[in-house]
Amino acid sequence: MLTNKTIAFLGAGNIARALIGGLIRGGNVRPDQIWATRRNPYALEELARMFPGLHTTTANAKAAKVTDIVVLSVKPQSITEVLEDIRQVVTPQTQIVSILAGITSASICKMLGQNLPVVRAMPNTPALVDAAATAIAAGTHAQQEHWDVAGEIFKAVGLVEKVPEYLMDAVTGLSGSGPAYIYMVIEALTDGGVNQGIPRSVASKLAVQTVYGAAKMMIETEKHPAILRDEVTTPGGTTMAAIADLERNGLRTMFINAVGAATERAHALSKKK
Ligand SMILES: NC(=O)c1ccc[n+]([C@@H]2O[C@H](COP(=O)([O-])OP(=O)(O)OC[C@H]3O[C@@H](n4cnc5c(N)ncnc54)[C@H](OP(=O)(O)O)[C@@H]3O)[C@@H](O)[C@H]2O)c1
Repeated sequence: MLTNKTIAFLGAGNIARALIGGLIRGGNVRPDQIWATRRNPYALEELARMFPGLHTTTANAKAAKVTDIVVLSVKPQSITEVLEDIRQVVTPQTQIVSILAGITSASICKMLGQNLPVVRAMPNTPALVDAAATAIAAGTHAQQEHWDVAGEIFKAVGLVEKVPEYLMDAVTGLSGSGPAYIYMVIEALTDGGVNQGIPRSVASKLAVQTVYGAAKMMIETEKHPAILRDEVTTPGGTTMAAIADLERNGLRTMFINAVGAATERAHALSKKK
């Protein structure tokens, strides 16, 4: 699907670099099909060394003019400047993919002064290790083919799910911010072990592997988490004692409310833009 497409990453920072690496490693696109921009020319030189054949430039308009797909991967505070740079060179055939949190497809079209096909995507930082969870949403002018093309880009670094655009703030609250919640869980589990006398370095390795192993079990067995939990819960045993304690302290409510708080925050921030 991407074989004949050219792609520009405007704002080639962490996430864009992960996507470029994933696409090239996966053989989905050749380096010479990709353009990368940022303001720092030295960082661009380093990128060109990492991916021989990649086109780099500090000029957003130059990259957007010669590519079929333009991926907006700058921080939200730089978006007005970048869209201003490219508004004269994009055409109705240009597909826009935006990974900026809280900026709607309608506002991107408004800033560009054209009704272009825009697909929004919300990846998360595990993209850097090819284990991202990404949700993509088609804007009002995007067709199925644009959704599919965007899906191919993000599949290069992990899992992709399609959602309607109104759910993008909720996705930010769940998987966008989610890695931070799990890092806290790992820290807390480690402290639990240390509290019982396990050396910190050992407790930390056991905690992180437990989270990784539990996630892998769910993915590979495709079983509901409640079933997997029941399978390790002996009546009157140790796991049940811990579960009763977690329930008493409202573990589920805590996570439900945390996702709610992050979603509300994402919504409030997007209304400011
Ligand atoms: N990190 C996450 O978990 C995550 C998840 C989902 C979505 N996002 C979104 O993804 C976007 C990128 O995140 P990131 O972590 O990759 O940020 P980042 O590493 O800071 O990358 C942004 C890049 O944009 C470049 N830039 C700034 N102004 C520019 C301009 N006018 N023209 C061209 N390039 C410009 C910067 O390089 P120079 O300073 O050299 O210009 C920087 O390398 C953000 O909008 C973020 O909200 C991030």
